[in-house]
Amino acid sequence: MTDANRGNWGSRIGFILAAVGSAVGLGNIWKFPYITGVYGGGAFVLVYLGCILLVGVPIMLAELIIGGRSKRNPVGAFRVLRSEKSPWQLTGWLGVASGFLILAYYSVIAGWSTAYIFKAIQGFSGTTEEIGAQFTNLQNSPLLTIFWHTVFMGLTIAIVIRGVQKGIERWSKILMPILVAILLGLSFYGIFFTSGGVKALSFLFKPNFSQLSAEAILSALGHAFFTLSLGMGAMITYGSYLKKEVNFSRTALTISLLDTVIALFAGIAIFSLVSQYNMEPSSGTGLIFTTLPVLFKETGVLISVPFFLLLTFAALTSAISLLEVVVSYFIDERRWSRTRSTLLLGGAIYLVGILCAAETLKVPFFGKQRSFFQIFDVITTNYMLPVGGLLICLFVGWVMKEKIPPLKSKASTIFYQLVIFILKFLTPVAVALVFLNKLEII
Ligand code: PHE
Repeated sequence: MTDANRGNWGSRIGFILAAVGSAVGLGNIWKFPYITGVYGGGAFVLVYLGCILLVGVPIMLAELIIGGRSKRNPVGAFRVLRSEKSPWQLTGWLGVASGFLILAYYSVIAGWSTAYIFKAIQGFSGTTEEIGAQFTNLQNSPLLTIFWHTVFMGLTIAIVIRGVQKGIERWSKILMPILVAILLGLSFYGIFFTSGGVKALSFLFKPNFSQLSAEAILSALGHAFFTLSLGMGAMITYGSYLKKEVNFSRTALTISLLDTVIALFAGIAIFSLVSQYNMEPSSGTGLIFTTLPVLFKETGVLISVPFFLLLTFAALTSAISLLEVVVSYFIDERRWSRTRSTLLLGGAIYLVGILCAAETLKVPFFGKQRSFFQIFDVITTNYMLPVGGLLICLFVGWVMKEKIPPLKSKASTIFYQLVIFILKFLTPVAVALVFLNKLEII
């Protein structure tokens, strides 16, 4: 298969925006603030930053090297770099399966976010309980949830079907600047126009180590994977569309840094509002869909509508990368056309997503009754991503030869070697620890 058939990025900046678009998603705007709230703020943030540096950046580098060198989807990549029958291909398979399952439930949450753009336009009103009940009603109504899931998956498919440059790159170039502008606007508003700005900054940046638990550390590590889109080959796939080799270590650092800064700004925007109205930052998963709408009643549509647009755009640029991993496998390995791959696989993910939309449909899973949504979330985040990440890191650290390219400057070479060193020795131990611990949590 020639590169022209697979597609490639039109520019380096297009690739960076697409990769940052993949990384910045519900994980940054929804999950990071709420877990920071649950685990008590500053100290958790510090540990999270450590995880990004010791685990995130090295695995991101590993994925970019695998993709950039092989110019293949995650399954084909291991075949090209090892051999036709290499068992390492299983890592790629795990990735394709993870992309499929994550997108199925991700699209359901993203669908709620899309629904909330329209709720925000109408304006939030009523008591705190009534506003909370609006979300419970949406969650418990399969029809409404399926409707919004359909809208969101439709958008995702419409972008991916256009291809790497005309679909993914083009939309990343449009959506990412809007996303950053909205986020900066909301953070600016939070810091300078609410009385909660100072409190928010001290909550996020003043560490209180007495609140730090082992569970918090492990969550920080697990989240580092999810937020950077690692462990399932999204960055292998995006890296494979690079025409020329870039400085992979610098690119990995840039993407990780931007993702982290965006998560921190989301934290600032959300916690300033929450502190201004003396609400609890630790309200968990409901932070976005129940706590914030109560505050939006006071701030009005100028804040609430951009907020849900931000959340939806962030989710969309991540969803396209999840679908692209699956689609790229069928294009490269099965020789399907992009249109066929996107429609059939996007359609299949959509149908499986319908199972996730039915919160009330529960099946036995490890002795407990769980919804498909919960099952997919648990098996992907707790098992598939860490295992995939561990294998990717062992592959590049210990198996792959010639991983350090000749670099122009001495400083880049030293940095590259440092990250590879961390990748070989520290990252596998850290990831193995999260994984073993998660085994108990299930
Ligand atoms: N990184 C995305 C987020 O933060 C989620 C994601 C995971 C996207 C894995 C692609 C692959 O929401």
